[in-house]
Amino acid sequence: MKQDSLFDNLSGELFTDISPTNEELVKAREHAESLRRDLEKWNYEYYVLDNPSVPDSEYDKTFRELVEIETKYPSLKTPNSPTVRVGGQARSDLKKITHAVPMLSIHTETDFEASGAQAFDERIKKALTLPEGEEVEYDVELKFDGLAINLRYEHGELVSAATRGDGVVGEDVTDNVKTIRTIPLRLQDKVPEILEVRGEVIMHKADFERINDEQRLEGLKPFVNPRNAAAGFLRQLDPKVTARRKLSFYAYGLGEISEPIALTHSGILDTLTKWGFPVAKERRVVSGWKALAAFHDWVRSIRQTLPFEIDGVVYKVNSLALQNELGFISREPRWACAHKYPPEEAVTTVQEIDVQVGRTGKLTPVARLTPVFVGGVTISNATLHNEDFIAELGLKIGDSVVVRRAGDVIPEIVRVLPERRQGTERDFVMPDHCPICGSETFRDEEEKDTRCTGGLFCPAQRKQALVHFASRLALNIDGLGEKVIDQLLEASLISTPADLYKLRVEDLVELDRFGKKSATNLIEAIDKSRETTLARFIYALGIRHVGESTARDLATHFGTLDAMMSADVEALCEVNDVGMIIAQSIHSFFSEPHNLTVIRSLLDRGIHWQAPAQTVQESFVAGKTFVLTGTLPHLGREKAKTLLLAQGAKVASSVSKKTNYVVAGDEAGSKLDKAQALGVSIIDESEMLSFLNLKLEDVQ
Ligand code: IVH
Repeated sequence: MKQDSLFDNLSGELFTDISPTNEELVKAREHAESLRRDLEKWNYEYYVLDNPSVPDSEYDKTFRELVEIETKYPSLKTPNSPTVRVGGQARSDLKKITHAVPMLSIHTETDFEASGAQAFDERIKKALTLPEGEEVEYDVELKFDGLAINLRYEHGELVSAATRGDGVVGEDVTDNVKTIRTIPLRLQDKVPEILEVRGEVIMHKADFERINDEQRLEGLKPFVNPRNAAAGFLRQLDPKVTARRKLSFYAYGLGEISEPIALTHSGILDTLTKWGFPVAKERRVVSGWKALAAFHDWVRSIRQTLPFEIDGVVYKVNSLALQNELGFISREPRWACAHKYPPEEAVTTVQEIDVQVGRTGKLTPVARLTPVFVGGVTISNATLHNEDFIAELGLKIGDSVVVRRAGDVIPEIVRVLPERRQGTERDFVMPDHCPICGSETFRDEEEKDTRCTGGLFCPAQRKQALVHFASRLALNIDGLGEKVIDQLLEASLISTPADLYKLRVEDLVELDRFGKKSATNLIEAIDKSRETTLARFIYALGIRHVGESTARDLATHFGTLDAMMSADVEALCEVNDVGMIIAQSIHSFFSEPHNLTVIRSLLDRGIHWQAPAQTVQESFVAGKTFVLTGTLPHLGREKAKTLLLAQGAKVASSVSKKTNYVVAGDEAGSKLDKAQALGVSIIDESEMLSFLNLKLEDVQ
């Protein structure tokens, strides 16, 4: 909702009519009241229920109307009108408010495990001297990681909002709190004369991210976490700034109240929900410590998906009578406890930055940390992604850093603590040679990565390179999948694709799960793959950015492998759909001596292909569009497609007026009908071969 833009003319009182007639004033008051009621309802639907019943434009129109009335008749302005949500005058300090009922703290279980829940339940049962086997009912809820706040309503109107402060005296943040859209300013229902609602002011993760993006854009320091950001904005002196910062509120209890509203804590929260207060729906009423522990576990599992941060759960004895009986120890209620999760952030040092080479040749810097317990586990490594990430963090080797491990996500360094530097810290430099195979590395500017050019040669990339080499659209070696490649690598039978062509049945039968028959089959499949096409071979090399269709374009453009290998970047750029990035990647692949060695061995071991009969320009089919349908008796559609593409034809999957020829095989269906209907020429397999100037014996 773009309501904020409507506030610009709020302060102007240009149209003030100083002498409205009584009747006029009464009418305006009634009208303003009805507008306010609508806006309050829509606000609640929009911000709390997330379920607006009117379009934004309707809200805007009504809002504007109210602004107009309040501007025209300033005496009709009310302290809790929806128009105050924008924030009023800035202040030079925050006033103090003494809490009518002190805001207590809560006992925290230090044991993060299920036994923490058990200890609390046992304490409660002991204090209540319950008979053996009897269970206590608990209300269980989220422990929000924000700031506690007390909202005071008198006769249903919000009169003040105060922070917890020292528990006895807090700070008056009423003006700022009024900008929080989920907090009702007036209560529609009949509520106790004095009603204090307590809860937590927080900032949603998404709002936090947005605000930090803004901070960075303006060259300001980002906030450390949503809690700090929320605290900063809540205690801001200028409510207009708070208004822009989207804080949120969740109620979890009561302060002073002039008459009881329920007999249980869950009853209180139900009533607050009914009155329009946001209450997190992740709450339950349960009995027995196992149910407490199960809730603790469940919340941990959904924690990442919550829109805001929490640091644990809270267990509360549900019956208010029992709460009363249990009372307080020092300044903590005995009837409640917080069961937290292990802290997600910790400080440690970066002892070294190592570089790992991934399966795709990407060099990833990894921080070796002084082991530290965070998020429930000890971590000693954290990924640093790439050079830019290190630069953004401003990280040096030897630095003290804050590491974070939230849920099951991979641990990350979130910030450096430069104030702890001792002068012995060193800068990190990305290696210019692969730490695994020694090939040169290059920086992929587009992806901000550094990569090894070792390709087929680099042991780190071997497995991936081999899987790709054998795959269906590459050399199509039947039966050579990831598992078998793992076995062959483990037994040191192969290290590059060229080694595949040295394998013998005797080598394979030695391996697990291989019999004579399967070994023979695989050797035959490898043997068969010796005969291929230039396009498939180029694709099989696994050059970065060179997919199946680029490989085809390269093959048709250059005609021979040699021509392609000796092409410079400029010449490569002339190929259809090849831009600078692809051209550079191809060029650096062929500049790496190790790759040339592997290619040479492959050719030496008998990989070959038919030289293209003609170049694209000469072929009759070049530029024409074909559709293949039915079963082609000798070639099959895949093969026919390859042949057509190799001579520059286009192969489409459906028939249209743009189709030049439909190649129809046996049992051709609707495509054939459509071709006839559109008058598209229909040919068979042998006619197609004659178009291509090929003989069946040549291509089978
Ligand atoms: S009840 C008398 N419930 O935790 C009990 N507190 O020390 C009063 N908190 O800063 C607290 N989520 O703001 C309660 N669901 C929840 C809570 C919660 C977060 C905070 C509270 C205070 C601290 C308690």
